[in-house]
Amino acid sequence: MGSTDQTGFTDQTGSTDPSRPTAETGSGHAPAEEDAARFWERIHRARSGWGTRVNPLLAEVAAPLRPGAALDLGCGSGGDSLWMAQQGWHVTAVDISATAVRRLRARARELGVGELVSAERHDLADSFPDGGFDLVSAQYFQTPFELPRGDILRTAARALRPGGLLLVVDHGSTAPWSWNQDPDVHYPTPEETAAELALDPARWSVLRADMPRRRATGPAGETATVIDNVLLVQRAAA
Ligand SMILES: C[S@@+](CC[C@H](N)C(=O)[O-])C[C@H]1O[C@@H](n2cnc3c(N)ncnc32)[C@H](O)[C@@H]1O
Repeated sequence: MGSTDQTGFTDQTGSTDPSRPTAETGSGHAPAEEDAARFWERIHRARSGWGTRVNPLLAEVAAPLRPGAALDLGCGSGGDSLWMAQQGWHVTAVDISATAVRRLRARARELGVGELVSAERHDLADSFPDGGFDLVSAQYFQTPFELPRGDILRTAARALRPGGLLLVVDHGSTAPWSWNQDPDVHYPTPEETAAELALDPARWSVLRADMPRRRATGPAGETATVIDNVLLVQRAAA
């Protein structure tokens, strides 16, 4: 998630990303007694500091674009949505956590971009926001719960306007400072995500499917090379 190091690996208190397997959730499993909505609500209520800055791969992809309508899937604390609004995008920001949505709305008003940000609570497993988008961003849209991610991302691809872009960025490696060094953790590769999407190549093309490395900084100031899994898809122009 957006964090001190902007990698999504740690939050500003140095805890591990809750989308990853945690000591609390076990080896990639959420606590049996808690559902996704309660889990993420609890996480967001407890932590107000992370995810407040733009993720670097979103900035890289979106900065050269002419601002239009954007959708931020699993917006978290809203660093990406706020950044996009500050660039002039009309942003629909969606999260399962009511606290995350409420805070983002308030922060957008504080920053003077309240008119540009529509923050909506959705469990994307059940509902999807209305509208057509020039850019859909799913940054570290990962969760320890069952999620029909392929279906959600396919819906997102269909919600693109002609020429619109879908950017999916996932964790690709475990930082050394992450408590979880389980070698069995599997991060979806860009190719796997593309295969899950199963998009008609006549209507959507893959512009980018790669696993860039970069230096990230951990909670104690330590640095390491981390990997992001990146998929960028474009809807054909009408
Ligand atoms: C790993 S965090 C990433 C947050 C943000 N995109 C970032 O990069 O900082 C995943 C986000 O997805 C949200 N989320 C998880 N499951 C969801 C669902 N079923 N529907 C909507 N949002 C969900 C969580 O509340 C959390 O904010």
